[in-house]
Amino acid sequence: MDIINLLELEAAAQNKLEQTAFDYYVSGAEDEVTLRDNRAAFSRLKLHYRVLRGFTTRSLETELLGHKLSMPVLIAPSAFHGLAHPDAELATIRAAHAAGTIMTLSTTSNMSLEQVRNASPDAMLWFQVYLYKDQSVSLEMIRRAEAVGASALVLTVDTPMLGRRERDIRNHFKLPDHLRIGNLMTTLPSVDGSGLGAFVRDNFKLEIGWDDVAWLRSVTNLPILLKGVCHPEDARLGVEHGAAGIWVSNHGGRQLDSSPATIDVLPRIADVVAGAVPIVLDGGVRRGTDVVKALALGATAVALGRPVLWALALDGQAGVTHALELLRAEVDATLALCGYDDVRRVSRELVG
Ligand code: FNR
Ligand code: LAC
Repeated sequence: MDIINLLELEAAAQNKLEQTAFDYYVSGAEDEVTLRDNRAAFSRLKLHYRVLRGFTTRSLETELLGHKLSMPVLIAPSAFHGLAHPDAELATIRAAHAAGTIMTLSTTSNMSLEQVRNASPDAMLWFQVYLYKDQSVSLEMIRRAEAVGASALVLTVDTPMLGRRERDIRNHFKLPDHLRIGNLMTTLPSVDGSGLGAFVRDNFKLEIGWDDVAWLRSVTNLPILLKGVCHPEDARLGVEHGAAGIWVSNHGGRQLDSSPATIDVLPRIADVVAGAVPIVLDGGVRRGTDVVKALALGATAVALGRPVLWALALDGQAGVTHALELLRAEVDATLALCGYDDVRRVSRELVG
């Protein structure tokens, strides 16, 4: 691949993808203000680098909920990797494992939990949860995640309905005939509008509240991260309700348009969480400088959404590996140029 940074992936992948699949992956909600601002907010921040510190080696390793990661970057949950590549989530988990990081498997993956685990028996695997209207469906899914050795549950809390992605509505987005929602062996309905929007409306528990977090805690011993938190008060409540981690996300601009850029809300959330639990951030992370800015403002690690899908479309497992290694090289270079020798020592003074 002659791709030399993550921003180049999208245009290259567009040529490989069916238009409806590209549209589904690329979309944000409505005017895509938040989608753009996730990137713009990173570029507004500057890195106030230090000099003459004499470091020759650097460590990118970090720890997250008992896992040793080779770098502070993991894979965010995204649905339907089968739209990008026939190996789908099997390729993604193998690449994550090879890179020494965590893959978060979406509830709505094309491959099932068991298939994904079989593809990479030793990989670090987290499972993203949407609660179902039918509690027994949720419970069975959680038991299956536990059985395959998922080491955390990521409860997505920003989806009381699916955001209005207008391309999907226009395209009547649904899965092609050869793909299924792997964990349920079902497909998306054919409707006038987004098939995914209809699926979410008909199947997911839409009125979730703090009592559901309590319920989830009561049925599993796995640590639970809350994904989709953008308000400091929700972060505070999350810690109070026993969340093992706060995942700052606006769903890549796909839910509430005009929600703030994640990097902009991170400092206040980090202040409220005050180190009680780790913070993961996603949304527009494309550069090593973005990763270091997030660490400086209080994240323990960041997660990648779309770049993984583009890389998968381009070259399956090897594509995802390539993307992760490009980002690793950029984080390393950023650290060197900032005058730091360890990602764990990056602190707020770096962003002024
Ligand atoms: C997502 N995201 C997502 N989140 C989640 O909790 N469950 C899911 O099934 C999905 N599915 C999904 C599909 C696609 C195509 C995209 C692009 C995103 C959101 C994802 O986890 C993450 O929050 C964002 O993708 C991060 O932003 P970037 O890196 O894509 O800018
Ligand atoms: C999405 C859902 C599946 O963003 O989370 O498309």
